[in-house]
Amino acid sequence: MLKTKIAVLVSGGGTNLQALLDAQKSGILKSGKIELVISNKEGAYALERAKKCNVKTLVLPSKELGKSFESELVKALDENQIELIILAGFMKILSADFTSRYDKRILNVHPSLIPSFCGEGFYGLKVHEAALSYGVKVTGATVHYVNEIPDGGEIILQKAVKILKTDTPETLQRRVMEQAEWKILPKATEIASKKIAKEKK
Ligand code: GAR
Repeated sequence: MLKTKIAVLVSGGGTNLQALLDAQKSGILKSGKIELVISNKEGAYALERAKKCNVKTLVLPSKELGKSFESELVKALDENQIELIILAGFMKILSADFTSRYDKRILNVHPSLIPSFCGEGFYGLKVHEAALSYGVKVTGATVHYVNEIPDGGEIILQKAVKILKTDTPETLQRRVMEQAEWKILPKATEIASKKIAKEKK
């Protein structure tokens, strides 16, 4: 079976990208291959992680590119014949024009149990600050398909994580990553890759 060609979009540290690279090595991710890592931020540490694994990288600085960011992105995805896009700590909302072009071909990992603490304005540490200040006892992570509604697409996998009395946004963020995100993102990527690979046969 031909592997699904994957691009991972990042903005920062890239621990979720690392989980995907590790999953590729261990065989958890076997129906897809990470062909390209694209960062919208120059100097993102995620780029170093990709380079260490000999994965091609590209920086498309969204601030400088402004309106042409998405057309540049489409160009790079086309040139590399990308079939599946993974948003792994990608901190930019994509337009409806873009998401409709890649229906059921974009996955996102979000650090809460959707539909709680999600949508515009809920990203990174802010999600965990909101969960702690609301006082929920359980949070977690979600991997979902991306559509025109921020964090609104079909859910693929979710995993719950208990909140401890001693948690700070930082400790909670780390535990949600370790116990949920780094586990369900590779699994969901394999599920989506396998589906696309089968469709090609
Ligand atoms: C992760 O917790 C990811 O779920 C979150 O940002 C962090 C990125 O970490 N993404 C969002 O909040 C998107 N709405 P990473 O760069 O180490 O993978």
